[in-house]
Amino acid sequence: MGKVYVFDHPLIQHKVTKMREVETPVKEFRDLAREVSMLMGFEATRDLPLKAIEIETPICKTKANVLEGEDIAIVPILRAGLGFVDGMLELVPTAKVGHVGLYRDPETHEPVEYYCKLPTDIEKRKVFVLDPMLATGGSAVAAVDFIKQRGAKDIRFMCLIAAPEGIETLSKAHPDIDIYIAAKDDHLNDHAYIVPGLGDAGDRLFGTK
Ligand code: PRP
Ligand code: URA
Repeated sequence: MGKVYVFDHPLIQHKVTKMREVETPVKEFRDLAREVSMLMGFEATRDLPLKAIEIETPICKTKANVLEGEDIAIVPILRAGLGFVDGMLELVPTAKVGHVGLYRDPETHEPVEYYCKLPTDIEKRKVFVLDPMLATGGSAVAAVDFIKQRGAKDIRFMCLIAAPEGIETLSKAHPDIDIYIAAKDDHLNDHAYIVPGLGDAGDRLFGTK
């Protein structure tokens, strides 16, 4: 079974609280999403392998560590996952970016696919799937299905707020992937929204409501 990491760093918790608040305006919400994704990305890349190379400082020659490979792909789930892209790219500027387009049918809450474009060498990359919300888990499971169908083998899922139902569904469907979250919330309401959550992440990020 994959691991679930809850990033309870005070800076992350503070910023997530600001994002939850209903009065937080769109621009601030977007800025906070970028900041939190950087902080979470910093933690989520902790296990990237290093290799020692020879370098020369102004003082002497020495061996020092660099990343062994920079073969990372980040894959936001459209729309709301886009809010996490810039922060991750600040950390790993050489990452390639794929996109998976899914939305939840408002009646059935089932994910509907409308777009998938991934780097052609996705099978060689460490893939970070990004979406702020893991509610029923339907969208995350479908996104990881598509990414695996295209050959990816090393996948992690990073989100801001997760419901227990979503964590369970994703872990059962894809027991090989680790899940990184900033907060585990209480439950889903009758519309499959996370409680207390932050509302509709896409609308809050893009000001569509
Ligand atoms: C939201 C969110 C996730 C999904 C989570 O997207 O960004 O992708 O819901 O819900 P689930 O775990 O129950 O599948 P939404 O469907 O609202 O689409 P949007 O990003 O285009 O607004
Ligand atoms: N999608 C959202 O944007 N928010 C939720 O609470 C659940 C699904």
